[in-house]
Amino acid sequence: MPILIFTTLYLISLALIPPSSSNNVHSNSCRSYCGNLTIDYPFSLQYGCGHRGFRDLLFCMNDVLMFHISSGSYRVLEIDYAYQALTLHEPHMSTCDTIVLGNRGNGFAVEPWRTPYMNPAADNVFMLIGCSAQSPLFQGFPDKHLPCRNVSGMGCDEYYGCPAWDLLGHRKKGSMFGSGPPECCAVPFEAIKAINLSKLECEGYSSAYNLAPLRIDGPGRWSYGIRVKYSVQGNDQFCRACEATGGTCGYGTDGIRELCMCGSSNSTSNCDSVNSSSKTRPIMMDTLAGLLMWMMLWMTTN
Ligand SMILES: *[C@@H]1O[C@H](CO)[C@@H](O)[C@H](O)[C@H]1NC(C)=O
Ligand SMILES: *[C@@H]1O[C@H](CO)[C@@H](O)[C@H](O)[C@H]1NC(C)=O
Ligand SMILES: *[C@@H]1O[C@H](CO)[C@@H](O)[C@H](O)[C@H]1NC(C)=O
Ligand SMILES: *[C@@H]1O[C@H](CO)[C@@H](O)[C@H](O)[C@H]1NC(C)=O
Ligand SMILES: *[C@@H]1O[C@H](CO)[C@@H](O)[C@H](O)[C@H]1NC(C)=O
Repeated sequence: MPILIFTTLYLISLALIPPSSSNNVHSNSCRSYCGNLTIDYPFSLQYGCGHRGFRDLLFCMNDVLMFHISSGSYRVLEIDYAYQALTLHEPHMSTCDTIVLGNRGNGFAVEPWRTPYMNPAADNVFMLIGCSAQSPLFQGFPDKHLPCRNVSGMGCDEYYGCPAWDLLGHRKKGSMFGSGPPECCAVPFEAIKAINLSKLECEGYSSAYNLAPLRIDGPGRWSYGIRVKYSVQGNDQFCRACEATGGTCGYGTDGIRELCMCGSSNSTSNCDSVNSSSKTRPIMMDTLAGLLMWMMLWMTTN
């Protein structure tokens, strides 16, 4: 009979006391969702989560993910974690259907400290529309040597074929050989480092990218938006080691130091090297369980 009581009590105490081997299982408190987009490392919606190069960058408003940099706010259409790229759009960007003039577009310029972490992709074309003859774009280039060129098979000559240009009453051949500057000038981001419509004295802009390995026929089939490549600058090992030990990657309140969040404590390396009380707690729990059982046994046998 005492053996039966003992066994029952032992089983009850096992059920009441959580197992002590759960050190390496922490939930990822940083991953979040906005609409149907998953926000994961190096991005995050919370300060302290993700990589510091992407802090204060993304905001979720009514299930719409917004990307905020010095040139303005954009809607994030996609985050491609495998290719480390983001696709952005904004309402004042011209497309094949509409041309927005009046210097209302954001263009694209990031804070200098962020430039190592993100830049428009090399195969993304920026098409600057209605730039003045005095634009820095045309200065220092002898007449026919404009910086304008095709990028990844996309350029203004083809863009002029869009319905939006018909609405503007565009002359089919452009004004390349006239006295004024071209109505549209296509450049890769690398050539000018910042698409600042005010500085470049342009009325509008469009941006397109090509994900297909082959050249896509016609500007009606191009993808309009800004394709941005991001990188954590080779600091990936820290996060991989952290995640491999069950942690979540983040950074300290100083906005600089990388941190591995291991449930109840943070580590500057990974969760295997955590010196926290969480490793000693299970031992205390076991002692407590033993004590409790001994007391119950003592009470029932007397
Ligand atoms: C996400 O939602 C948008 C509309 O809000 C839709 O256009 C897009 O196809 C969706 N993407 C996926 C992967 O479901
Ligand atoms: C764009 O250029 C204007 C004029 O040079 C400047 O005042 C403004 O700060 C620039 N904007 C960005 C986002 O760099
Ligand atoms: C761009 O490509 C088009 C057609 O593919 C060609 O006619 C045009 O000359 C090219 N423009 C430049 C600036 O190289
Ligand atoms: C761990 O770091 C994060 C991000 O800086 C912070 O929010 C959290 O309070 C820290 N947790 C502990 C236990 O120090
Ligand atoms: C762990 O504890 C040791 C001493 O007990 C200390 O030297 C070390 O810095 C601690 N490591 C972390 C990650 O807190």
